[in-house]
Amino acid sequence: MDFLRNLPDAAVLTDREALEPYLRDESHVRGSLPLAVVRPRSAAALKELVRLAKAEGFGLVPRGAGTGKAGGCVPTARTVVVDFSAWPGDLRVSPQDLCLSAPASAPLREVKAAAEAQGLFYPPDPNSWESCALGGTLATNAGGPNACKYGVTRHWVLSVEALLEDGDLHTFGISSLKANAGPALGQLLVGSEGLFGFIVGATLRLTPLPREFATLLLPVTRWEDLLDLPGRLCGAGYLPSAFEFFDPAVLAELRAHGPEEARRLPGEALAVLEFDDRGCTSEAFLGGLMDLLGPVAEGLEIASSERQRQGIWAVRRMTSAFLKERHPKKVSEDIVVPRSRLREFFAGLERLDLSSVSYGHLGDGNLHVNLLAAGETEPALLERQLMDLFRLTLSLGGTLSGEHGIGLAKRDAFLALSDPGQIRALRALKQALDPSGIFNPGKVI
Ligand code: MLT
Ligand code: ZN
Repeated sequence: MDFLRNLPDAAVLTDREALEPYLRDESHVRGSLPLAVVRPRSAAALKELVRLAKAEGFGLVPRGAGTGKAGGCVPTARTVVVDFSAWPGDLRVSPQDLCLSAPASAPLREVKAAAEAQGLFYPPDPNSWESCALGGTLATNAGGPNACKYGVTRHWVLSVEALLEDGDLHTFGISSLKANAGPALGQLLVGSEGLFGFIVGATLRLTPLPREFATLLLPVTRWEDLLDLPGRLCGAGYLPSAFEFFDPAVLAELRAHGPEEARRLPGEALAVLEFDDRGCTSEAFLGGLMDLLGPVAEGLEIASSERQRQGIWAVRRMTSAFLKERHPKKVSEDIVVPRSRLREFFAGLERLDLSSVSYGHLGDGNLHVNLLAAGETEPALLERQLMDLFRLTLSLGGTLSGEHGIGLAKRDAFLALSDPGQIRALRALKQALDPSGIFNPGKVI
């Protein structure tokens, strides 16, 4: 790529072999071969890249660690991938301000560990938390089990530094929760999947580190009994920090083919609940909880050691990879329905007869419905099945994605099913903030 030859402070990759790994993320989507991959190390590199993109008419595709689930970072035609893995910057915790600043390249596990070293907590915990980069979690507004109590990434972002279409870096927000001088433009960038500009760093809100956990295995003999529990718990004043579930099919598969810890999992269906409030291991707290859960549970178990707790989480964390290994062509969805409509959702799903299995974040209604035979399903039929699933979700007041985003994987469905006013507003924003259309072209809208 001749025009990239003089790019300052950046590695430029153009060998086909080097470009190949960038064609995919962790979704089923495969991208087009990019013109190049660039690893910028300074603002000057980004400035020149933006100038060249406009002058030469190519798009820029942001990339963190490539662990996304919706194809948001895979290249579309005539694009250069901007790989932020070499982006410089320090990770700094400020206990006085209860915040942490870090570059987009910071591994999320290091962000979480830096907070913990100071007795503080950064809650977002997507399944890829040990391998993803902070920048990707900001661009996609990543979630995870802890979202049940703590919300998703955007709820923890105080300020962002971002590359905009003028080629410069701009900061939106300050290191305080209170910043009300005008609309929160930084929030527009979080979860934008790079549509309006690329986030290169952020200041994140922290909270004191929870040190007490009650982790419960809750097996049921009638799986529908799980479905009212998130709403009933919240209605009774209990807010779990995580409330995960395996439907009967996922649980049976884990038990038959999963790791040692999974073979002993009880029940027809199973939930994993965790509480992290101070006093959550007290008799009074657990007694009240048992009164609520007891009638539906079959042999409720509370983790009695950190080792047992970690074992339970290890099984939950490997479920996605486990299913992927057993069903390499599966398509995993990420829909959300309000907690109060879970029973209706699963009744509707059964009527759709999609041969799906489900697991995920029951506590906040974020369900990973997996179509295991997607790879063998005729494409037009698969598309119809997915549209049926999305329509059911929307009819219950839900949404197409809780944490993975739209990217390329769900773009068509998003465009077809969203309120036309929402799409018009998004397009108007895109036109205003990126008139040359250089930022992540072809994604979301
Ligand atoms: C999970 O919660 O396991 C992931 O978000 C789902 C996935 O990896 O597909
Ligand atoms: Zn998930």
